[in-house]
Amino acid sequence: MTSQQPIQDRVQVKRDIRKIKNLPTVPGIVAKISRMVENPETSASEVGRLISQDQVLSAKVLRMANSAFFGMSRKISSISQALVILGFEVVKGLVLTSSVFDMIQKSMAGLWEHSIGCAAASGAVATILGRADAEEILVAGLLHDLGKVVLALNLPDEMRLVVDKVQSGKVLFYEAEHQVLDFDHSELGQWLAEHWNLPDSLAEPMRLHHRPEKAVIKPECAAIVHIADVIVRAKGFGNAGDPLVPPISMAAWEMLGLRKTDFLPILEILEPKLSSLVDITSIN
Ligand SMILES: [Fe+2]
Ligand SMILES: [Fe+2]
Repeated sequence: MTSQQPIQDRVQVKRDIRKIKNLPTVPGIVAKISRMVENPETSASEVGRLISQDQVLSAKVLRMANSAFFGMSRKISSISQALVILGFEVVKGLVLTSSVFDMIQKSMAGLWEHSIGCAAASGAVATILGRADAEEILVAGLLHDLGKVVLALNLPDEMRLVVDKVQSGKVLFYEAEHQVLDFDHSELGQWLAEHWNLPDSLAEPMRLHHRPEKAVIKPECAAIVHIADVIVRAKGFGNAGDPLVPPISMAAWEMLGLRKTDFLPILEILEPKLSSLVDITSIN
């Protein structure tokens, strides 16, 4: 296999992927929830009832809601309680995540662990910043690399070329994707987010976690997920696809008003969470 594809092949690949019809389908229940939410008459208890009808899904969502992620002082025992305490977008993100858990697991070894690690780190940074939307930012961290799932499941040959390149240890995963495909998993993630009707607050960090300075909708969220991604790689938790730790964007760091001295308290929150995350690395 050559290290560099001929340019005509790359153009062809780009054309092919733009036509991908079989993007992973979001389970019927998430589509239904999305439709319900568009209706201003819908109440949280109606949404809760719908999720609760699927017992396996509800159990998975509750397991995540009660995990080290959120560090709730009291146990969340029902979906309606989760909706009140965590908020609608967070519960929707958890439904989505537990629905696509198998897909994430099958796509790339270690990607699930990287995703939950990034979620925990996003939550830790958001907590240090005292953000009221820490849980939503955590869900954005959980979903940030879903584009890699699209790549692995739809373009296995190109995925192999990308993996060959990153094994040299000289390029990051997204740089290798650019060399092979002319675009990367962040763009694939955005297509998926559009396809699944995810809110912009989740779609933007999926698109811009490697270039957080370009974010306009909720730039702090993209910046936090970016920093969390780097931290979790540096901690060696999970596998983002390549062994390198990219530098933190100074623009993102400064935009959040973080100081060097904030690193230690972030790690103090994160480390015990990473060690206790093992309990949800298998949510089946
Ligand atoms: Fe990424
Ligand atoms: Fe990542």
